[in-house]
Amino acid sequence: MDYSLIQIKEERLRKDLLDLARFGEEAGRGLKRTALSEADLAARQWFKERMKEAGLKVYEDAAANIIGRLDPKSGPADQPCIATGSHIDTVFQGGRFDGALGICAGLEALRAMQESGLPIPCPLELLVFTDEEGSHFAGTFGSRAMFGQIKEGETEKSRGTGRPTLAQDLRRMGKEPKQIGQAVRSPSEFRAFLELHIEQGPVLETMGVPIGIVDGIVDLHRYLIQVTGQAGHAGTTPMLVRDDALVKAAGIITRVNEAIKSAGPDIVGTIGEIRVNPGAINIIPGEVEMALDLRSLKKETLASVKEAIGEIVNSVSKARIEPILVKEGVKMDPQIRELIKSSCRQQGIPFHLMGSGAGHDAMTFPPLNIPTGMIFIPCKEGKSHCPDEDISFQDAAIGTQVLAETIMRIALANQPV
Ligand code: GLV
Ligand code: MN
Ligand code: MN
Repeated sequence: MDYSLIQIKEERLRKDLLDLARFGEEAGRGLKRTALSEADLAARQWFKERMKEAGLKVYEDAAANIIGRLDPKSGPADQPCIATGSHIDTVFQGGRFDGALGICAGLEALRAMQESGLPIPCPLELLVFTDEEGSHFAGTFGSRAMFGQIKEGETEKSRGTGRPTLAQDLRRMGKEPKQIGQAVRSPSEFRAFLELHIEQGPVLETMGVPIGIVDGIVDLHRYLIQVTGQAGHAGTTPMLVRDDALVKAAGIITRVNEAIKSAGPDIVGTIGEIRVNPGAINIIPGEVEMALDLRSLKKETLASVKEAIGEIVNSVSKARIEPILVKEGVKMDPQIRELIKSSCRQQGIPFHLMGSGAGHDAMTFPPLNIPTGMIFIPCKEGKSHCPDEDISFQDAAIGTQVLAETIMRIALANQPV
């Protein structure tokens, strides 16, 4: 097979990435395109048009995932598809390429594959998942909804007082949250899933290698810590009789950070979100909610740190901790890794096998026995989840070329991978 007939167009990919980056752009403060915000809805609309232009049949499921499908020109359309994709939502003050690269690259790959004239023997899908970043409550909402993994009542919960729940945002766009079950698909509909993403760390850039082939993704646990105190007058309540929720929370933050650091380099943890109620200069804080994100490739380390954190929280009066999201770490499929390597070797592109400390929708597929692969490209200075996130468009094109060729290799493999 002459894979060189598939020719990614860097300029077209660059234009899509830059056009998409305008949605939610805030001068000097990166992108605010949190899931189902006005900016996200506008971006989704724009992207659906690009998918249609590329000849895909586009629909949206009950969980607001966007699905673009390309049926084979000859051969049955009801065989399992090869899917690629990522997310269009960003974190608050996020960068231009986290998620966006995967969907724009998927689009460019499908365009280039069609233009190559090579026969594509099975259906291909481009998936744009809803709320990967978890700005409502938990993360990877769309891919979990696709496989029936949304917990009872989850869409009704919000991490922030006054912030819309996912259910509210879904209703606002005309969807009934009680019907997200209609988004559920059978794993047997998928032959493989591939995601191209920026590395979000410094490894590839430091090594000077343009492609990372992911072998595994960390366990990712997220918790909500709630601390209750007694609100009161900041001027008249003596210091010694106060029950200040924020002072108690501050102690928890410091002790949790120390517990994680003392567990060694195999684990990272962050309390990056905190809300104080009522949150006024002249009121003693009555309640604090904070979100903890904990990740490790080592299950034992994670379990022992989790226990230590539980003890810290429980040692503080009226404090409690509950899980928001528990995603087990996953391994990428060895055969798909080999096919990615073949695509790199064919073009003389150096690659590096590596783990991912970031969570991705690609984590949802392996436990369902859907063979899954992830390709990384370098990220300038390893920066991500911040306005400075940047890439080289040449690397993006190399990654997209590898993605397209790998999809074709999977499609042409005799055996189902
Ligand atoms: C997703 O971006 C994550 O938090 O890893
Ligand atoms: Mn991402
Ligand atoms: Mn992200």
